[in-house]
Amino acid sequence: MHCDKGRFLAMAWDILASGSGKCRAASAVRGGVTPARTALLALVVALLPLQALAFPLGGDQTVLPAGTELSEDALARPRELFHSEAMGGRKSYLVNLGDLAFNSPSILGGKARQAEMSCGTCHVNGASNPKLFVPGVSSRPGTFDTTSLVFNAKTFNSILDPVRIPSLRGARFLAPYGHDGRITSLREFVYNVIVNEFSGPRPSDEVLDGLVAYINDIDFLPNPKIAPGGRLGAQASVAERRGEALFFKPFPKQAELSCAGCHLPAGTFNDQVRHDVGSGGLVKTPTLLNANFNAPYFHDGRYDTYEQVVEHFDRVFDLELSSQDVQDLVAYLNAVGDGERPFDKDGVVLRMKEVLELSSVLETAIPAADTAVVSLAVTGVGAELRELTEHIPDIRNTSIGGKDERLAARAILKDLVLTLRRIDLEVAAGHIDEAMTEYRKFAQLVNFDVPVALKKAEPWSLFNSNVHQAHYTALGRMLPVTSGQSQ
Ligand code: HEC
Ligand code: HEC
Repeated sequence: MHCDKGRFLAMAWDILASGSGKCRAASAVRGGVTPARTALLALVVALLPLQALAFPLGGDQTVLPAGTELSEDALARPRELFHSEAMGGRKSYLVNLGDLAFNSPSILGGKARQAEMSCGTCHVNGASNPKLFVPGVSSRPGTFDTTSLVFNAKTFNSILDPVRIPSLRGARFLAPYGHDGRITSLREFVYNVIVNEFSGPRPSDEVLDGLVAYINDIDFLPNPKIAPGGRLGAQASVAERRGEALFFKPFPKQAELSCAGCHLPAGTFNDQVRHDVGSGGLVKTPTLLNANFNAPYFHDGRYDTYEQVVEHFDRVFDLELSSQDVQDLVAYLNAVGDGERPFDKDGVVLRMKEVLELSSVLETAIPAADTAVVSLAVTGVGAELRELTEHIPDIRNTSIGGKDERLAARAILKDLVLTLRRIDLEVAAGHIDEAMTEYRKFAQLVNFDVPVALKKAEPWSLFNSNVHQAHYTALGRMLPVTSGQSQ
């Protein structure tokens, strides 16, 4: 959720007003400093002295290839559910710490960090990112080559072999990890992602434990169409039932095989085993739960639809499916792969909930004088707040209303950032009591005054789809390259 392009585009409100400027993501002249870019940076520094001091200035997208699409301006965000909360409990400190680390570019290294990418850039809210596309690193949207030169010269394997960015919903049932199941332990897998794939510094045990706890807590979305035991519920259609029967039926030429023999309905529609299904070697069986939101399909993202997947199995295993059979299996897969309310609308409510959750680690980390976690929280929450600010156009933009509301919202967000900054300074100086006093002020603001002020400004913010659209249309006219995604 660390939004370089989004952030930049929001800053571009100002440039739009002044009628010059160029998108960093669009120009992306590697290492090149264009006059427009210099002007932009000067403008940004002049406009945001506070943020510039408190936090490193926004991500540098020029480190990513031109035409990169991180899809950070999407107005719908995958809904995230936690097992601990579903069980009626609260998320633990470790889970919140992991969530924070997951969304913090500072735990990665190299170009990912420079561009302010985090785990959450690819696994948005713990799900996938079907639109992410990095030229030279992705073969198609939603795929990514984790062994490419762009992010780490050490793991570079000199071939372009992008794989689909998987959803991490239900990850605790999805070992062994990686499409090829190369690593059994989630902890080890995550360590490898940070240190080897994204050249990050060695994470502390605490951060690693947090990431594992967070990932293990991400649940599947509930699906009322499936009854306990993994069978279709009473409301299933006739086509879905025929599909279910086919799913359990032994393959005509290899009676030891069936769809259900690998995608175990009594479990989570996978078997935690690797098989060769004619897609290029041994691949672990993916879960079919919530899979309606996981396209593109297969480890390399070669298929867009269930129909293509079923036709693949038909071809490879000689299933002799009629076109009716194919449609029935597709209907069944759609029923099994569904999930309740898959997306949340991005907006003030969602953002404030996130700020509250991420900053909650401070309640434990300040009294413990845990400077590492305090810094992570201050940086991570600070970036979140900066993004929020940039969703509210500066009042010099006169083409939209709500001038007073926008002014008030931006002012209170600035207050919040300052308070956060003071917490960091006090903890660093060993003043724990003072830091707690600032934290209580922060919590008070986040719980009461800020949501009220932001809610009032929301109709004139980028969270309003009309404002959002007008904004991107205007930018598109000015910077035709910005939206240029090769597909
Ligand atoms: C640039 C995109 C990107 C970023 C950033 C990223 N991932 Fe991934 N992630 C992927 C891709 C692609 C795969 C699939 C790798 C494979 O199959 O070999 C993956 C796989 C995984 C898996 C294995 C899932 C499974 O079912 O086997 C886990 C767990 C994971 N990532 C966690 C993380 C964590 C934690 C971070 C941050 C430290 C992170 N990822 C950052 C793209 C990304
Ligand atoms: C021998 C075990 C096995 C059998 C039998 C099997 N699958 Fe799979 N299935 C897999 C594996 C392994 C993959 C991943 C292939 C890849 O990623 O290259 C997969 C992938 C899929 C996917 C794509 C999911 C995603 O997220 O990418 C769907 C849908 C699917 N199978 C449905 C079926 C159906 C329907 C049948 C019966 C016609 C079937 N499978 C039979 C093992 C199996």
